[in-house]
Amino acid sequence: MPERIYIFDTTLRDGEQSPGASMNLEEKLLLARQLEKLRVDVIEAGFPISSDGDFESVKRIAEEVRTVSIAGLARANKMDIDRCWEAVKPAAKPRIHTFIATSDIHLQYKLKRTRDQVLEDARQAVRYAKGFCDDVEFSAEDAARSDLDYLCRVFEAVIEEGATVLNVPDTVGYAIPSEFGERIRYVRTHVPNIGKAILSVHCHNDLGLAVANSLTAVQEGARQVECTINGIGERAGNASLEEIVMALHTRRDLLAFETGVNTREIYPSSGLLTNLTGMLVQANKAIVGRNAFAHEAGIHQDGILKEKLTYEIMTPESVGIKDSKLIMGKHSGRHALKRKYEELGFALNPTELEKAYILFKKVADRKKEVFDEDLITIVRDGLRIFPEAYKLKYVQASGGNQILAAAAVMLEKDGALLRDSAVGDGPIDAALRAIDRITGMPGRLMDYTVHSVTKGKDAVGEVHMKVDFGTISFIGRGASTDVIDASARAYLNAINKMVHYQMALAEHKHTESAAGDS
Ligand code: KIV
Ligand code: ZN
Repeated sequence: MPERIYIFDTTLRDGEQSPGASMNLEEKLLLARQLEKLRVDVIEAGFPISSDGDFESVKRIAEEVRTVSIAGLARANKMDIDRCWEAVKPAAKPRIHTFIATSDIHLQYKLKRTRDQVLEDARQAVRYAKGFCDDVEFSAEDAARSDLDYLCRVFEAVIEEGATVLNVPDTVGYAIPSEFGERIRYVRTHVPNIGKAILSVHCHNDLGLAVANSLTAVQEGARQVECTINGIGERAGNASLEEIVMALHTRRDLLAFETGVNTREIYPSSGLLTNLTGMLVQANKAIVGRNAFAHEAGIHQDGILKEKLTYEIMTPESVGIKDSKLIMGKHSGRHALKRKYEELGFALNPTELEKAYILFKKVADRKKEVFDEDLITIVRDGLRIFPEAYKLKYVQASGGNQILAAAAVMLEKDGALLRDSAVGDGPIDAALRAIDRITGMPGRLMDYTVHSVTKGKDAVGEVHMKVDFGTISFIGRGASTDVIDASARAYLNAINKMVHYQMALAEHKHTESAAGDS
């Protein structure tokens, strides 16, 4: 019987705290539901004390995602743990994850506490957390650079207090696999009560070794791996979930372990995260990169055609990449579209299907063949998570290297049609300026990427942009066969998020003042 490795997903905590990866509550919920479909064992949903927004999203995820353990992060103090427990309490399987640094570097410069004091802090924190919750994970931050005997003493103490999971983070991605493996073996053999807890690892990727370190740790006795979708996370990121899971899956001959992950949900999870954050995955990224299963060299293509085993160690289907044969075009009807979406894993309700059908027809009118990626883009872009305050009715722009770029835009808001035009530094700039004139809420473009999601000259281009509104910034995305149209849609997407945010803020203030009055 292969031994079970528990997959602890921290995309919504360590991943989300990295630059450019922030998500709002609805987006986090959407990702959490997808992680549930992926069948990870634990979702670390956030760090509740860090902000009201984080608290709310951990709580909502705990209320709504019922089949997975929901963890919240807390420093080793009562206030953090209280807040964390408030947030994870509604979960079917709550977990408090408390941590404190154990390396001398952190003790001396950051915490300014002695080893004995930190050991006592850790002990007290776990004891306190245990008063609320059976499942308590303890992390020794910067464990990879901590004195080993001291680390073991801390672990022994927190197990005595009831810690159920002991986590060994390589917080700064400093370890080398053989060294990290030895560290895990040392902990396993020098903590007398280690049998009462699950040993876990949490590796950062600063030297590109997070996955290698995690797998070596598994070989040495770690049974929980902390990781993120697409490997996002602080600095160079965390160990990538898809790489860990597929390495275990593909090399069962060497690694006699299994996870509970439904590998066919890996690709949809990766795509959803990209779509929510605008953080694109590099083309040659293992498992989920665009080229991960593309065979370009003639010799390779020849080999693959003769026998896939020659150059393919796992199939694209096994990670959820569909190789669909059903061709969709302008003559395809609603029935075909519904079936096609089901095939792609989307169960659309009648209203969503109708909306998708209208968008599909628009694409089909402009292209001979509508690819799977076009359809996925329609669902992601067309069936927005946010109520749209502004809708794009049309955008018309002209540009070139000899004339001043100009754009005319028409938007719809609450049934009224609003028009304006502007000149700009290129047609995209002109279109965005025209939108600014209509909405009266100009944003500053911080980041802009465009990539084609389908093949051919008439491909659908997807634009991601980060728009700064002064106090807060939002990711906007839009897709179209026309890059100006896609850019205008992406910009409006960010504006609609801003409108939604302002409304939520006003509502919150109103509720607070009403509560104050009573
Ligand atoms: O990298 C780290 O040490 C962490 C801990 C809080 C687990 O993220
Ligand atoms: Zn981390």
